[in-house]
Order: sequence, then structure tokens, then C-alpha cells
Amino acid sequence: MSGYHVPVLGEEALDVLLEAGAGFFLDGTVGGGGHTLMLLERCPHCRVLAVDRDPEAIEAARRRLYAHADRVRFLATRFDRAVDDIEVRDRGLDGALLDLGVSSHQLDADRRGFTFRRGARLDMRMTPEGASAADVLARASEEELGRIFREYGEERHARRLARAIVEARADRPIETSDELVGLVDRALPGRVETQDRARIFQALRIEVNDEIDALEAALPAIRDALVGDGVLVVIAYHSLEDRIVKNAFREWSRSCVCPPGLPICTCRGEPLGETLTRKPVRPGDQELAANPRARSARLRAWRKAA
Ligand SMILES: C[S@@+](CC[C@H](N)C(=O)[O-])C[C@H]1O[C@@H](n2cnc3c(N)ncnc32)[C@H](O)[C@@H]1O
Repeated sequence: MSGYHVPVLGEEALDVLLEAGAGFFLDGTVGGGGHTLMLLERCPHCRVLAVDRDPEAIEAARRRLYAHADRVRFLATRFDRAVDDIEVRDRGLDGALLDLGVSSHQLDADRRGFTFRRGARLDMRMTPEGASAADVLARASEEELGRIFREYGEERHARRLARAIVEARADRPIETSDELVGLVDRALPGRVETQDRARIFQALRIEVNDEIDALEAALPAIRDALVGDGVLVVIAYHSLEDRIVKNAFREWSRSCVCPPGLPICTCRGEPLGETLTRKPVRPGDQELAANPRARSARLRAWRKAA
């Protein structure tokens, strides 16, 4: 997660992305432009397609990357749709980076409603259209709310919280972050810590922005757009996202795709590529001291076979 700060795991991401040299790269989550700036500065012959679904992020990145305008092209879209870009289709990608989640810019702007600051409206949309977090709280059934908090927030008392929301909204709509915080504090048993509230907010944000579907669609699409030796780097901040990335990379790196239980391999399949990170790369103490928001970051990388 980064905005105008130093990009999360920036050196680590660029070391692996640039291993094969200069080329044409996708930054699918350009945000405040941190990783792209680092890439363009480190690699004078590299070009970047800079994508973000948030038009405000695109504008911020455009300003920050002004000095490199001849080597970066911007596109406001979801990263799974970046592969429809004509240059990506015609030429292919030498590497791609997804630095998932929200930017500091989004988190810090009260009117975007990503945080639990008093009075902030529950919006949480990364794009101007679609249903806001307040809309989800108003319209989702008790079962849906339970699923959102359990799956995306790993909340043990998801059903209890879902019921409390349905009861509360019968009186009046839940529209601001402090109304939701109050509800969470009353509904969950025991002492409710900041990180418990953060997980509930994160679950709503993932639902509002359809983040899991976007990631699941993007991974194979970007893999197919990579040229041989091209590298895909993903930085995840949530165990559900990290698991999706880990499993995809593992699946693509298998040499045998026979159904389990066959005594010998009959498919003679070739791996599509190799996982470059046996374990996820985590930020070191120095990075964490400078940017505590990086604490949950996990980087994984995969290289397509030549
Ligand atoms: C953690 S920030 C990226 C920060 C950036 N790497 C930097 O160094 O400044 C994540 C960004 O990804 C964008 N984003 C999240 N999901 C997206 C998706 N499915 N498609 C496109 N952009 C997305 C968000 O709008 C946000 O700006």
C-alpha cells in the first residue's frame, strides 16, 4: 500500500521485474505512481502501461510521472481489462506488476470513505460508479452480509454482525463510518480492537470493488499476455488474495496436469513457467519502520517459460 510514499517492496519488485532487461511493462495498479517511477528511473529504455481503475489515481500518477511522459501511457480501467489494450495484444508484455488493495491517497481522503474516521461517509468505491459501502449495508441480505464478513474479513462472528446490521437498518440507514464502528463494537463479543474494525471495513471494501473477481480474472489474462521469460509480480495485503496468487502460480508451474490418482503421467505436460518466490517476500524491519502500512505485504513472482 503506498501513495506518495516509497513504494512497498519496491527494490524487491523491480529486481525481479527487470532481471531480463528493458522492455514494455504493465503497472496494473499505478496508484500514486511509486513503482512506475522507480522502474522508469532504474531502466531508461523501459516503457510502462500505467493502469488504475481510480481516475483520481491516474491524474495523481500523471502529474508525478510528468518528466517521463514519453515512456508511460495511462489507462483508467480495471487491471483485468488491461490486456485488451492494442499494444499489449500486439506486442505482449515483458513484465507486469499488481500492487493490490488501496493507496494511501485513497485511505487518507475522508470523502472516499475507506477509513473509520468520525463522520466519514461509507463510500469505499475505487471508481465513481457502482454501489457504495452504505448501499451494500442497506441492500445486502443477512446471508450475504455474513458471507462478506466471513470470507473477506475472516470474522468469526460474521453472522452475529450481519444480524445486528439488519436490525439496525430497520430503524435508520447506516451511512457513516462511526455508525458502523458503533455497531461493530456492540455486536462483536469482548474487547473490539482497531484491527477487528479494520477487517470489517476491508471486507466491505473488497465486496464494493469486486476485488476478488478482478484478481481471479486478471491473473490468467496477464499470464497469457506475457512474452516468454516475462515476469508477473503480485503484492497482496490480505491472506485470501495471497492464497489466490500462490495457488495460481503453483498450478501454472506444474509439469503434470493429469487428474490425481493416475499411476503414471500420461499428459506429458510442460509447465507454463516457474514460481520465482518459494516463500512470499515480506518487508524488512527498515521498510516497516518507515511505512507501517506495509506490514501485511507479501510479494510473489512467477516467470513464463521462454
Ligand atoms: C496499493 S495502491 C498502488 C500503489 C502504487 N504501486 C504506488 O507505488 O504508488 C493500489 C491501487 O490499485 C488500484 N486498484 C485496485 N484494484 C484495482 C483493479 N482491479 N484494477 C485497477 N486498479 C486497481 C487502486 O485504485 C489503487 O490506486
